[in-house]
Amino acid sequence: MDAISVIRTKRDRGRLSDAQIDWVIDAYTRGEVADEQMSALAMAILLNGMEREEIARWTAAMIASGERMDFSSLPRPTADKHSTGGVGDKITLPLAPLVAACGAAVPQLSGRGLGHTGGTLDKLESIPGWRALLSNDEMMDVLRSVGAVICAAGDGLAPADKKLYALRDVTGTVEAIPLIASSIMSKKIAEGTGSLVLDVKVGSGAFMKNLEDARELASTMVGLGTDHGVRTVALLTDMSTPLGLTAGNALEVRESVEVLAGGGPADVVELTLALAREMLDAAGLPDADPAKALADGSAMDHWRRMVAAQGGDPDAPLPTARERHTVTASASGTLTRLDAYAVGVAAWRLGAGRARKEDPVQAGAGVELHAKPGDRVTAGAPLLTLHTDTPERFDYALEALAGDAIGIADTASAEPTPLILDRIA
Ligand code: URA
Repeated sequence: MDAISVIRTKRDRGRLSDAQIDWVIDAYTRGEVADEQMSALAMAILLNGMEREEIARWTAAMIASGERMDFSSLPRPTADKHSTGGVGDKITLPLAPLVAACGAAVPQLSGRGLGHTGGTLDKLESIPGWRALLSNDEMMDVLRSVGAVICAAGDGLAPADKKLYALRDVTGTVEAIPLIASSIMSKKIAEGTGSLVLDVKVGSGAFMKNLEDARELASTMVGLGTDHGVRTVALLTDMSTPLGLTAGNALEVRESVEVLAGGGPADVVELTLALAREMLDAAGLPDADPAKALADGSAMDHWRRMVAAQGGDPDAPLPTARERHTVTASASGTLTRLDAYAVGVAAWRLGAGRARKEDPVQAGAGVELHAKPGDRVTAGAPLLTLHTDTPERFDYALEALAGDAIGIADTASAEPTPLILDRIA
């Protein structure tokens, strides 16, 4: 087998054989297929697509490139959630302890932010002492004692994806549905969860800008999970405006703790409960009541124990940024648009995100919203507060919020976009 014949097959719109797929993934992981050859193949896949059987085989080959975890010794059913990424998406933070409080085990392997979307690990690292890097044994201990763990995926899980994802990131080939689906699902299947709920984001702040593409991605991932014996369900949820009222690491932890304390923004509570119900149902616990676990403090208790078990101090004050800048409403009326992508880029430029994998992030940086689309606003009243340790970044963040990122219209009300747009099982 050789890389050029595999590239030619896909370049000429052919179907890759099982043997070609197994060989190219294995040879690329071992360094025998060069980055430039894999880039050409990824571009051919982006342009010409893959059939369902090809995607399934590609996913299986990526799973086989590394280790598989096994949670079968746990006394509880396992349930995991994956979001395709958005702005202000802090849902994993309240969700994992909430679902654990309802009786499932939640092994949540999470990532860091790159670009305009935040990363769960960066958010949690704003809690003094909290550790993202756990050994497999430590992870199992936290899962056994608390029922929920949020940590970094080890290097042994789907190493082919690690290499390929970094390559796609720099070759304009991230946006291929077969490659996104196989990338996400290879890691989740190798992780060994029994059930999985996918939160596929749709809108300006998401990978998938329209419902049609999001449906295709969701049904491809649900099919892959189901074929591998993982009970998989997807919710398609709106990402045209940020989730909740904060985008930024410590700001989002604070908001998550508000939700666990029984408060917090309505959209964050709605999505947390909807995903919790799906996870509990998929895990075989349909009678559990997540709303009760939020109200009676048991979800908060699991949060505190989970943070402490990973070295964090749940009572320590969260870091705040040194400087603030307020953006005010330019007119009175109804806020019709607060663009998720623009707010995500602003938070990133303020220091909440990183441009390169090795960059540090500022724990206190980000954007705080004082109104959501549909709210009435008054000229001169605060609309956003920008937070950063480095005030020279304010202008750069404000550039992202210029143009049509913010819309105010002289209408009595705006039709609110539903948060949950579809469900695919
Ligand atoms: N997240 C992943 O893990 N992989 C992708 O390809 C895209 C998003």
